[in-house]
Amino acid sequence: MEKQNIKILVTGASGLLGRAIIKTARQLNWEVAGLAYSRAGPGLEKVDITIPSQVKAVLEREQPNCIIHAAAERAPDKVENKYDETRNLNVTASENLATLARSVGSRIIYISTDYVFDGSHPPYRVDDVPEPLNKYGITKLEGEKAVLAGHPDAAVLRVPILYGPVEYLDESAVTTLLRTVQASDTPTTVSNYEKRYPMHVAAVADIVCQLVTKLLQNPSLNGIFQWSGQEQLTKYDMCVAIAEVLSLQHSHITPDNKPAPGAPRPYDSRMDNSRLEELNISAHVPFKEGIRECLQEWVSQEQ
Ligand SMILES: NC(=O)c1ccc[n+]([C@@H]2O[C@H](COP(=O)([O-])OP(=O)(O)OC[C@H]3O[C@@H](n4cnc5c(N)ncnc54)[C@H](OP(=O)(O)O)[C@@H]3O)[C@@H](O)[C@H]2O)c1
Repeated sequence: MEKQNIKILVTGASGLLGRAIIKTARQLNWEVAGLAYSRAGPGLEKVDITIPSQVKAVLEREQPNCIIHAAAERAPDKVENKYDETRNLNVTASENLATLARSVGSRIIYISTDYVFDGSHPPYRVDDVPEPLNKYGITKLEGEKAVLAGHPDAAVLRVPILYGPVEYLDESAVTTLLRTVQASDTPTTVSNYEKRYPMHVAAVADIVCQLVTKLLQNPSLNGIFQWSGQEQLTKYDMCVAIAEVLSLQHSHITPDNKPAPGAPRPYDSRMDNSRLEELNISAHVPFKEGIRECLQEWVSQEQ
């Protein structure tokens, strides 16, 4: 398939990752249909993916070559507290989407997470048995299984903690740390326990688009893929990096060497990237460079 003839449909197109995928795909001159829910607007069609008739109508009309399924509830504490509702979105809607994708002849990539692993035995290979620690991880793993069962040619892409250009600082668990760094009058502790491998959404979008191209070139390519960022950082390390690149203080922040409170998180869920590397797929944005670019405007706005 010629690159310019690719048409993708992105669910969660108003979200942190979805916006980046749309941007990259447009730069490649692909045709793009973006679906959103509460943030639908110009160029983003409102479709509630938990309502099968709405999904069926849009897929039959758009007939994409590949669906990138990025819509989900991804806040672990929200999934703990609203399990049935979020399971319906993360699992049931994903299963339905995969079945409908198959019926219109579209490939599908389900975006998943390193939280499917318990973090006790890194690095994790694509065929290692996942054992999620919290309900978010459980719903994402069930979503993976439902998509793979509903569509024999489906692909799953597991990614780590994400950051990127945000609409509000709390939109990413990384960018929200700017508030902590800026509150230099307030002594505080930040987790220095769980090891994370943050990725800029532009790098994930790059990987997604490279994977779409490979999937469309090779009908027998399917199953689980994953990519971890190349730098290991705790949340405390991220605060120090943010402070350094924005010339802010961090002496008010003390590293906390105990597990973070709230829903249990994996200690070290580093994923092995070799399956994608063997396909010559890779992307990397150095953390300090990426986070400075994302946060600079938030600091400038306040000066
Ligand atoms: N963020 C991370 O650190 C991270 C890490 C690992 C994996 N992931 C995975 O990456 C994917 C994208 O995450 P993200 O951070 O971009 O999420 P996000 O910013 O929270 O965006 C979630 C998206 O889902 C849409 N959505 C929610 N309910 C919907 C519904 N009923 N019907 C249709 N759309 C609905 C939202 O639309 P509206 O906003 O318009 O309502 C939004 O576009 C998810 O699958 C997540 O599990 C994320």
